[in-house]
Amino acid sequence: MDVLESVLAVQERTSKWVREGKSIGFVPTMGYLHEGHEQLIKEAREENDKVILSIFVNPLQFGENEDLDKYPRDNEHDQHVAESLGVDMVFLPTENTMYPDPLSVKLTVARRADVLCGKSRPGHFEGVVTVLTKLFNICQPTKVYFGMKDAQQVAVVDALLTDFNFPIRLVKVPTVREDDGLAKSSRNVNLTPTEREEAPAIQEALQYGQTLVKNGERSAEKVKDATRKFLDSRTHGKIDYIELLSYPELEPVTNINQPVILAVAVFYEKARLIDNVVLKSD
Ligand code: PAJ
Repeated sequence: MDVLESVLAVQERTSKWVREGKSIGFVPTMGYLHEGHEQLIKEAREENDKVILSIFVNPLQFGENEDLDKYPRDNEHDQHVAESLGVDMVFLPTENTMYPDPLSVKLTVARRADVLCGKSRPGHFEGVVTVLTKLFNICQPTKVYFGMKDAQQVAVVDALLTDFNFPIRLVKVPTVREDDGLAKSSRNVNLTPTEREEAPAIQEALQYGQTLVKNGERSAEKVKDATRKFLDSRTHGKIDYIELLSYPELEPVTNINQPVILAVAVFYEKARLIDNVVLKSD
């Protein structure tokens, strides 16, 4: 397994792979790998000749008051995991490698970004599509792997690939969970023991909402209210949002008669957790 830091070195290697007709699976991450990331890598390994993992905590997608400095890092562990899962190349750029100069061209996300996490984190998805556009041009993947835990990110990446005609297939990987249902996240280590005990309520609330829809409830408002009540009574975390929107368009919905996403974000003392479920009404 090669660990490369330079854009040129990666591009030379990936161009060679492309010339040889090799398929390239690419898993972009911010590191501190857990079983969620591992699942993405495993799927990429099964479906491609070559697998690239990138590890880069992208400052552009963090807001002023967010957890960029607190974001956990462990490159040694990550490289070990990558090696054991058969990754061919780890791209581990520095901030200066990715952003040597202030950008002259900026990408904006016109739709799908002004709701959910995009609303709470202005500029976040601009930062995400910017780094991904760079990473896609560097790694030249055939397929890219993204987790449904970040369902809004999947919706935005889907739009990025379509709108800008990237010849890349998006693979959506279901959320990997702890035994008690909590979605695996690098941020879970920042929970206090009490918060960790309460946090599975997020997933339980989503399942509760899902059951209401399965049992015939079609009012988005009622499903949201019931989910909020359920969650409020089971955690001290502060609910950032509970939303029900069409998926992947992320437009408001009154009556549930199309694929929708029920999504939640909760603030704990040192971590903001998100989770979601995509529902089909029939
Ligand atoms: P990061 O948070 O490291 O996540 C990398 C990938 O792992 C994302 O596609 C995310 O959805 C997926 N993932 C995280 N937890 C998961 C889980 N429990 N189950 C399944 N997949 C999971 O998302 C980012 O990094 C960044 O925004 C990035 C795309 C790398 C751009 O900087």
